Amino acid sequence: MSLLWSVVEAIWFFLPAMLPNTSAAIFGGGPALDFGTMWKGRRVLGDGKTWKGLAVGIASGVLLGYLEGVVALPAGAPLTRVYPLSLSILPAILALSAGSMLGDIAGAFVKRRRGLERGASVPILDQYDFAAGALLLVYLASPAVAVRFLFGGEALAGLAVVLLVIYPLHRLINYIGYRKGLKSVPW
Ligand code: CTP
Ligand code: MG
Repeated sequence: MSLLWSVVEAIWFFLPAMLPNTSAAIFGGGPALDFGTMWKGRRVLGDGKTWKGLAVGIASGVLLGYLEGVVALPAGAPLTRVYPLSLSILPAILALSAGSMLGDIAGAFVKRRRGLERGASVPILDQYDFAAGALLLVYLASPAVAVRFLFGGEALAGLAVVLLVIYPLHRLINYIGYRKGLKSVPW
């Protein structure tokens, strides 16, 4: 298999982790995950992490994984190897979606502990919290699948490209969200 193809597979595999945060920003709102609870004089997570955002975010990632399986089906596209339309891949898709939301929540937790208000910018943490959560959870939930598409052999080149692409993509999407009034800050 070519290196380029490994990169395509890794990106295709990681997409269900890329969508949830954007869905949460568009459809989130309502009661906060921490219900306003304070810890040591600060919010545990803050109003930027909501139940609706979490639910819609995870659901959107899982749906995307499923649709990827559907889209790749015609002509027996080799990409169906990444997301076959079978329940066997569900733990991996769920782990990527939920992991990306949990990583973002963990990032907010760290920011609040450092005394930073909602929306404060922390370079690297803001761009990579979701990816770290997704990578960790998918490895724990489906190690063989995670190694096959991200963590082993030629797939490592794919992982490197995914990590490289995330930074500018995250900046761009958040800038668009800011311009469209979905976010109060452009990061
Ligand atoms: N969001 C949500 N629920 C989540 C995650 C995100 O409702 N679980 C929504 C919130 O409206 C949030 C927006 O998505 O403001 C953008 O997310 P993010 O940039 O991560 O949040 P910030 O507002 O920057 O807050 P924080 O400093 O806590 O990361
Ligand atoms: Mg964040």
